[in-house]
Amino acid sequence: MTKLIEVDEQQQIFHLHNEQISYLLTVEAGQTLSHLYFGKRVRGYHGQLTYPRVDRGFSGNLPGSNDRTFSKDTLPREYSSAGEMDYHLPATVVRQADGANALNLQYVGYTVLEGKPKLAGLPAAYVEDDSEAETLVITLRDEVTGLDYQLSYTIYRALPVITRSVKVVNNGAQAVQLEKVASMQLDFVDRDFEVISLPGAHVNERHPERRPVSFGVQSFESRRGTSSHQMSPFIALVDKQTDEFSGDAYGFNFVYSGNHKFSLEKDQLAQLRLLVGINDYNFTWKLEPSQSFQTPEVLMAYSDQGLNKMSQTFHQLIGKRVVRSKYRDLKRPIVVNNWEATYFDFDEEKLKPIVAEAKQLGIEMFVLDDGWFGHRDDDYSSLGDWQVFAKKFPQGLGHFADYVHNQGLKFGLWFEPEMISYDSDLYRQHPEYLMQVPNRAPSPSRSQYILDLCQAEVRDNVVEQVATILSQGQVDYVKWDMNRHLSDIYSLSLPADRQGEVYHRYVLGYYDLMERLTAKFPDVLFEGCSGGGGRFDAGVAYYMPQIWTSDNTDALARLTIQMGTSLAFPPSMMTAHVSAVPNHQTGRVTPFETRGAAAMSAVFGYELDLTKLTSAEKAAVKEQIAAYNQMRALVLEGKFYRLKSPLDSNQAAWNFVSADKKQVFVAVFNVLAQAQPYLTKTKLAGLDKDKCYRNLATGQVYGGDELMNLGFYDPVVRHDFASQTYLFEAVTEE
Ligand code: GLA
Repeated sequence: MTKLIEVDEQQQIFHLHNEQISYLLTVEAGQTLSHLYFGKRVRGYHGQLTYPRVDRGFSGNLPGSNDRTFSKDTLPREYSSAGEMDYHLPATVVRQADGANALNLQYVGYTVLEGKPKLAGLPAAYVEDDSEAETLVITLRDEVTGLDYQLSYTIYRALPVITRSVKVVNNGAQAVQLEKVASMQLDFVDRDFEVISLPGAHVNERHPERRPVSFGVQSFESRRGTSSHQMSPFIALVDKQTDEFSGDAYGFNFVYSGNHKFSLEKDQLAQLRLLVGINDYNFTWKLEPSQSFQTPEVLMAYSDQGLNKMSQTFHQLIGKRVVRSKYRDLKRPIVVNNWEATYFDFDEEKLKPIVAEAKQLGIEMFVLDDGWFGHRDDDYSSLGDWQVFAKKFPQGLGHFADYVHNQGLKFGLWFEPEMISYDSDLYRQHPEYLMQVPNRAPSPSRSQYILDLCQAEVRDNVVEQVATILSQGQVDYVKWDMNRHLSDIYSLSLPADRQGEVYHRYVLGYYDLMERLTAKFPDVLFEGCSGGGGRFDAGVAYYMPQIWTSDNTDALARLTIQMGTSLAFPPSMMTAHVSAVPNHQTGRVTPFETRGAAAMSAVFGYELDLTKLTSAEKAAVKEQIAAYNQMRALVLEGKFYRLKSPLDSNQAAWNFVSADKKQVFVAVFNVLAQAQPYLTKTKLAGLDKDKCYRNLATGQVYGGDELMNLGFYDPVVRHDFASQTYLFEAVTEE
C-alpha cells in the first residue's frame, strides 16, 4: 500500500499526501517549523516554496543573528507562541513561574504512526483499520521551560482530510499556566479568501454568512460554555469565485462542544493566519511537571470542486468516522415526539391515544419529552430528580413503556442531566452541586442552573440516576437536552489557581458522562439537543449519532437551517419533524407536504398531536412514511448536493444520490408564489451522466446528463411555500 507520509530527512521536508491532497511542511532557520502547502495533490516537491529572504522593516530577526532577511513575523509557520519575534496572534501562550510568557518552540524530531491514536478523554475522528490513515507527530521543544509540543497530523487515505491536534507535555521542573493552546495554526501566502461562518441564535441556527477576509483580526467564537447556537465551531475559507460546484474550499470543523475560537488575521503583507482552538477567554490550565494537556481536534477538508464536495467530505468523515454508535449504519426509527403535541400537559391516559394513532400510521417510536419526572408540570422545577412523576404515571414509567412496546413501537425518553432546579430534591440535598461563585447569587436561565460537572461526585450522581432508569431495559432512545448556557464559572472543587480550567473541565465532564452512559448502554440510540441545535458539533457526534437540529420546526425556516447545517454536518446527524400549523415558533402556515419534504431530507419524524389530524392529513402521513421508507438509506447514506439556496433566491433545492448513483431524491421549494412568475428550472447534480433514470411517480425516463444539464421546469404554483419532491431510479435497459 502506498505510504501517505513521506519524510525527506536531509531536506527536512514532510509530505502528507493521498490521491487528492498534499500537505507540506519543513524546518526553517532557527529550527522553526514552517508551512509550505495545503491543497490539491502534487507528486513531489522540489524546494520552490522556500520562503523568499526579504529584509522587512519592523519585522525583527532570530536572536543572535544578523540576518535581517529572515523573520518569524513573516514566515508561514505551523505553530507559534507568545514572546517570539512574531506580531500575529500566537497559537500558544504560557505563563511561567517567573511571570514570563515567552517560548521558543523549536523542531526536535518526528515520528510516523500507522493509523490514528485516540485522544484521551476527548472525541475525535477514528480509523477502523490502521491502513485507513497515517499520523505524523512532530515535536517542538522550548528548552527553557522544558515544554514539548507534540503536533499531530493525520491524513486519511480515502478522504481529502487532515486532522490536527496538539499535546503539551511539561518535561520541566516547574508548573506552568497554559493561557492559550490552539489546536492548529495554518498560514497562507498570496490567497485572497472569503470566509464562510455559521452564526445564528436559538430557533435560528446556522445561517451561512460569507464575507471577505479583511486586514486585521476577525474571530468566530463561543464564550457560552458550549459550541452554541450563536456561532458554530466551523468556518470555510474559499476563493472569491468558489461556488457550490467549483473552486477551492478549505473547511475547518472543530471537534469540541465548549468555548471555541477561530481567529483569522490578515497581516501587513496580506498573509493570513488561521488559529482554531479552545477559546482563550477565561481559560488557563495549570500544568504540573510530567503532566500533559491534550487539545481537541480540528478536521480540515480541502475541496477543489467547491462547497458541495467540501461538505460531502465532512458528511463522510463525521458520519462514518466520528459517529461511533451502532446506529451509525442502521436505519434510524421514525419518531413521534410529544413536546409540541402536549408540552407539559399530559399524563399516561392522554398519551396512549397518540401512541395508538402512531402505530396505525406506521410510526416506529414514541418519544416522551420533558415533564415525566420529579413533579414537573412546568419548567420551574425538578431538574436533577430523575424519578417518574407519579401523578402523570400512577402505575410507573415501566407500565407506560410496556404499553408503547406492546403497540410495536420503540420507547424514547427525554433527559436534561446537566441541570438542577432550586425546586428539586437534588438541590435540597446537595446545594453544593450547583455551579456558583462563592458569595454571589448564580444567574438563572429558563429558571434553571448548571450542575458542576467538574466534580466527580456530581458526575457519578448523574450517571447513577440516568443508568437506573435505562437499566430497567425499557428505554430504546434518549434525548439528551441542555436548555441553557453556562454562567457563574467557578468550581467549588478546584483551588484558586485552577478556576480558569472550569469551562474546559465542564466539557470534559460532559464527555465523561456521555462516554460512560453510551458504553454502558450501547443499544440505546442517543440524540443530542440543546434547545434544538445549541450544541450541534462533531464532538457530540462521537457519542450521539443524531441531534435535534433546531427548536424551530417551521418548514420554511428549516430550509435555511438545514442547508446551513449541511455545510459542516451530515443530514444523518440532523433530526427534523413535521409539526402542526400555525407553526408554534413563527405562526406560519405551510402545506403538509412541504413540512414533509423538509423533514424527510434528514432523520425523519413528527412532533404534533396525531389524534388531531384530519383524515386527509393522516393519509398524507402514511404516504410520507411509505416514501421515506423507500429512500431512508439514500438520505442517511447518500451524497447530498445543495442546488439552490433560499438565501439568494425565492427557492431552495437539493438532491441526494446513492453511492451507486442508482437512486436520487430531489426536493425543490418555492418560497413565495408570484402573480407573474419568472420560470425556474432545477438541474440535478451528482448523477451518472450515462445512466437513464425513471421518475418513479410518472414513469418517465430521462438521461442522467439531461437531468443535470437541461434540468426541468419547476411547476408554476399559486400558493406560498410550495414544494415538489421527486424520486428517480436508474433503469438498466431501455
Ligand atoms: C428544548 C428542546 C425541545 C424540548 C424542550 C423541553 O427546548 O429543544 O425539543 O425537548 O427543551 O423542555
